[in-house]
Amino acid sequence: MSLAKIPEINIEIPLPKAPKALSKDQQSSYIEKIKGLLIEHNAVLIAHYYTDPEIQALAEETGGFVGDSLEMAKFGASHSAETLIIAGVKFMGETAKILGPDKKVLMPTLEATCSLDLGCPIEPFNEFCNQHPDRTVVVYANTSAAVKARADWVVTSSIAVDVIEHLQGQGAKIIWGPDKHLGNYIQKKTGADMLLWQGACIVHDEFKFQGLEKAKVLYPDAAILVHPESPQKVVALADVVGSTSQLIKASKELPHKQMIVATDKGIFYKMQQAAPDKELIIAPTAGEGATCRSCAHCPWMKMNALEILSEVFEKDDNEIFVDSELSKQALKPLKRMVDFVK
Ligand code: 13P
Ligand code: SF4
Repeated sequence: MSLAKIPEINIEIPLPKAPKALSKDQQSSYIEKIKGLLIEHNAVLIAHYYTDPEIQALAEETGGFVGDSLEMAKFGASHSAETLIIAGVKFMGETAKILGPDKKVLMPTLEATCSLDLGCPIEPFNEFCNQHPDRTVVVYANTSAAVKARADWVVTSSIAVDVIEHLQGQGAKIIWGPDKHLGNYIQKKTGADMLLWQGACIVHDEFKFQGLEKAKVLYPDAAILVHPESPQKVVALADVVGSTSQLIKASKELPHKQMIVATDKGIFYKMQQAAPDKELIIAPTAGEGATCRSCAHCPWMKMNALEILSEVFEKDDNEIFVDSELSKQALKPLKRMVDFVK
């Protein structure tokens, strides 16, 4: 088993094994099976931009949804299906359940998690917050239900800067968790008084400044699009910094014919749909002396494979349950997030 380490908080994270590759025939047969099951169970498939292209295509073909974590949450809460199948990572399933407690929420596997969630256990985070009772606690959606329940606000990267500006306008001092890079980016943009938890996304953390500088020389006319979970030096090279949805929008609107993209390469499926005439180039993850563990594709998102998706109704260990008291507490900051963008 391979391990990743989040240095500042000293947590070792086991990385999952990649699912086995399928032949074209196997893929088609699983796809047909899943289509039938979704109808039979009155279920809808909701996929994140970082899942594999065949999962996103299946969500589209079956009247489901592909989007960022905020859009997934909103779509699930307002959809009439009895069962939501969340193809993404565990925090997305939990968010769907908290916003729609009467729905059955299933995931292909509950082992699909996130290094930000794993790197922010509730006990030390709670202690950190308790040491600064005068601060408003703002957490990223990539956290457990328990961490959300401890927070005043939940945000995604698409609204993080706006929410912090809003709170700053009210004179608030902030505790931000868990992503240090996104926290640094927001702090720089807004000048807000923020104390940062030191978590990181193992995928975005691997984008390399030197490699990106070299790519700029190779593709001098390309625009550089960067997700703010990337290191500050990489963000500094960007033409556009934004959430997944914002980067897709930029790929369409920018005049450039080539885009160097520093985020999970699963996004290329929707980005290429939005900008069919553009060449998309993944930003380098392995510079000199570096080893790439994720190679710009989240190992937990990759766990949402056709084979286990086809078993989603047969398993007995893949339903999302959230403790009712925790759910009630976590709903408050989550509702603030949803209401903020209404
Ligand atoms: P979005 O909130 O933009 O969907 O991103 C979620 C995520 O996991 C980014 O790495
Ligand atoms: Fe978490 Fe990073 Fe994977 Fe997004 S890409 S789910 S932040 S580990």
